[in-house]
Amino acid sequence: MTRVLKIGGSILTDKRRDAAARPEEIRRVAEEIASSPEDLVLVHGAGSFGHIPARRYGLPESFSPEGLLQTHKSVARLNDLVVEALSRAGASPMPVHPLSCTLLKDGRIEALAVKPLREMVRDGLLPVLHGDVAMDASRKAGIVSGDQLVPYIARALGADVVAVGTDVDGVLVSGSPIAEMTRADLASLEGALGGSTGVDVTGGMKGKLLELLDLADDGIGSVIFNASREGNISRALMGEHLGTRVRAI
Ligand code: IPE
Repeated sequence: MTRVLKIGGSILTDKRRDAAARPEEIRRVAEEIASSPEDLVLVHGAGSFGHIPARRYGLPESFSPEGLLQTHKSVARLNDLVVEALSRAGASPMPVHPLSCTLLKDGRIEALAVKPLREMVRDGLLPVLHGDVAMDASRKAGIVSGDQLVPYIARALGADVVAVGTDVDGVLVSGSPIAEMTRADLASLEGALGGSTGVDVTGGMKGKLLELLDLADDGIGSVIFNASREGNISRALMGEHLGTRVRAI
């Protein structure tokens, strides 16, 4: 069994303020994950550590070595905080920086080294990836969001559980989470889907949903749940259907 969990940057950081971590939340999230760390790949969002420097340097539209370096260093700092918290909580995390193992083409993942991830999981380690900058074969460089990493890794590893934790109760329609969602529902819901709080350069809820609907088309269902509610991460890791379940038609 393999599980892929994403924790959104809005949980771990204050998305409105540059590089503003939420240490208490990082600790809580780490403790919930450390209660069930086996057969798991963790991907976390970049939050204000990524979106704010990316916006400042005009990424991904404009290429700037300084922008790439500063944005990467900033998201790597958040990754370091998450890895530290997981270690303290008793898990065996390993930082994996997408910049060093991912190639994009037109903004989409063209290649990602999954073999080391598989090996880490097999050896009882918990790989911890994050939204990052990455080289792009067709336009110099780009941004790889956690929302894009999750389905890629889930497909490559044949994940049984895919859970995407956000700061809302799932896919909200008129303020309430819907229990289930398929591609057939997309057209009717499109206008009602909310964006994201704070600065977001990678697509908010709609971007997330499109990624997960594609994954469902390939036979891998997922849930979008509220990771800011205590206990939900542990429940999602057990494969419980909380929040909104994204499934194939
Ligand atoms: C974005 O990552 C990465 C950068 C802006 C460099 P994500 O899209 O995964 O981050 P969150 O979850 O929205 O914070």
